[in-house]
Amino acid sequence: MDAQTDLTTAPGADAIDALMARGAAFLGTRHAILGGAMSWVSERNLVAALSNAGAFGVIACGAMMPDRLAEEIAATQALTDKPFGVNLITMHPNLLELVQVCLDAKVGHIVFAGGIPPGPAIKAAKEGGAKVICFAPALALAKKLVRSGADALVIEGSEAGGHIGPVSLTVLAQEILPHIRDVPVFVAGGIGRGEAILSYLEMGAAGVQLGTRFVCATECVAHPNFKRAFLRGAARDALPTVQLDENFPVIPVRALQNEGTKRFLEHQAAVIARFKAGEVTKEAGQLEIEHFWAGALRRAVVDGDVEQGSLMAGQSVGLVTKEQPAAEIIAELLDQARAALLARRAGV
Ligand SMILES: Cc1cc2nc3c(=O)[nH]c(=O)nc-3n(C[C@H](O)[C@H](O)[C@H](O)COP(=O)(O)O)c2cc1C
Repeated sequence: MDAQTDLTTAPGADAIDALMARGAAFLGTRHAILGGAMSWVSERNLVAALSNAGAFGVIACGAMMPDRLAEEIAATQALTDKPFGVNLITMHPNLLELVQVCLDAKVGHIVFAGGIPPGPAIKAAKEGGAKVICFAPALALAKKLVRSGADALVIEGSEAGGHIGPVSLTVLAQEILPHIRDVPVFVAGGIGRGEAILSYLEMGAAGVQLGTRFVCATECVAHPNFKRAFLRGAARDALPTVQLDENFPVIPVRALQNEGTKRFLEHQAAVIARFKAGEVTKEAGQLEIEHFWAGALRRAVVDGDVEQGSLMAGQSVGLVTKEQPAAEIIAELLDQARAALLARRAGV
């Protein structure tokens, strides 16, 4: 059904459903809302809860090996008969095996994250019957990914939690949405309320992807300390990692500031000083800097070490105010979107 036709000619039809129709049909869900994969956070419980609530949960494979992923998929399937996806990091050394694990388990959608996916991975996923979703950081790459076989795209702005690009969703949406119509485009980064969802749908997004907003879902297994940090955090506390020296690049990650982020600055300064004193090579120094955060997200999410661990969170963290069931969060977002649309129509 054409969204515009439905909006104007079908009295009582849910206008938000109509705006989400293309995205929802692509995902096989009631609502075109993806739960963005979050390493350690997006496991069976949160993924199944989101899918059971009519959204689309996505398992974060992260560094899991194939047998562990197979186990997680099976456990998720035991909790939901609704569609869900799996997010694979493209630089994983066993990428093709992981794709095969998804195909063997009849996972319908594979999300490739962390870089442009290699052609053989896209080909294997599609030939095996899965739909492929890729992240597009700019219009030229969005077009290239569609040509390479991506069935849908996610554009993620720098407001998001975790690893981020330099451009905000406000700008990426304007750069990409008007020009990519062949495949559905989902938008991510900084979305925490339904009014924003409505705006992006009206701009041409097929749907949305949220991460931060789902961390405090009751079903989410993140440590209570991690959830508490989200409940306390304000938008201004969720900052990208700071790089001290252009010789030692740092991958930008948006996270709540804590002892760990302070120590990271000291760690960089110490490595840079040793490099300048000729005590460490550039390569070894770079590795020392990169290794600082190894295992840090797990320490925060699983062990609850919110001082030294990584508190990856997006700017929408300020909109997370209570722990509530996933279904309630989804219902709240949709209610806000509907109310905003009705208010607009009523001229309020
Ligand atoms: C704690 C955390 C971990 C994340 N881990 C991943 C990941 O493993 N793979 C990935 O593609 N995106 C990851 N993301 C990004 C989310 O999938 C999602 O795109 C993002 O959270 C959307 O922006 P928002 O946080 O503003 O809602 C992570 C985000 C957070 C907050």
